[in-house]
Amino acid sequence: MINKIPSNTDDTVPVLPRHVAIIMDGNGRWAKKRFLPRFAGHKAGVETVRKIVEISAELRIEALTLFAFSSENWQRPKKEVDILMDLFVSSLEKEVKQLHQNGIRLQFIGDRSEFNQKLQSRIAESEQLTRDNQGMRLVIAANYGGKWDIVQAARQLAEQVRQGTIEPQDITADMLHQYISLSDLPEPDLFIRTSGEHRISNFMIWQLAYTELYFTNILWPDFDRAAYMDALKSFADRERRFGQTGEQVAKIHNA
Ligand code: FPP
Repeated sequence: MINKIPSNTDDTVPVLPRHVAIIMDGNGRWAKKRFLPRFAGHKAGVETVRKIVEISAELRIEALTLFAFSSENWQRPKKEVDILMDLFVSSLEKEVKQLHQNGIRLQFIGDRSEFNQKLQSRIAESEQLTRDNQGMRLVIAANYGGKWDIVQAARQLAEQVRQGTIEPQDITADMLHQYISLSDLPEPDLFIRTSGEHRISNFMIWQLAYTELYFTNILWPDFDRAAYMDALKSFADRERRFGQTGEQVAKIHNA
């Protein structure tokens, strides 16, 4: 299925991704440029999250996955980690009702067991509240790492081998995939990273195998509707071949 932008918008993006995954980078540099503390950058970043969620839902994108905190982010100064945790809790407390009213289903991926009890409770409550919503899936990757994801999936398969349900030689990529986070969603069609860094940084490394990558120099707090539209237009212009030739893809599309 291919999504199209609703006809009542001025934006002319012919083909939309079903699933967009974003590394929201550059909050610190945004604050530094303004002689503000890093916290101010993260706070401004939350405003951008709100806007991008709104636009994505309006465009009827099926799923939006945002990298909020990587497994490696614990290495930041404790003060910054504490501030980020507080920001996650307060954002959830403030935003969840509105998300629910808009039919958005909120979900978290990553190892939540390392978060404080308050944050774990807010996460569980927000997932519980929105679990039956049929609108956009909003996925927050928190204490998430792509290698962690593959390891947790491998452990589940290994457990099955131990129980004798499967033999090691029977393991296929499809089987492992079933245990990788978000296996019930289409894999991201479009990956966006802001702030000029050209890396995947251990984000959904399994799921991004065939994803179109888009990098922009814009810092996350400045990433606005126009910048998002540029990314979507770039996606629409690409020919996705999934390992096939251009001619094969054209045949499938014209069939
Ligand atoms: C990267 O900027 C940003 C983060 C590590 C945190 C992302 C968090 C938010 C945008 C706010 C909260 C999100 C939600 C979902 C409520 P950076 O600090 O690495 O910036 P820098 O590279 O310029 O230092």
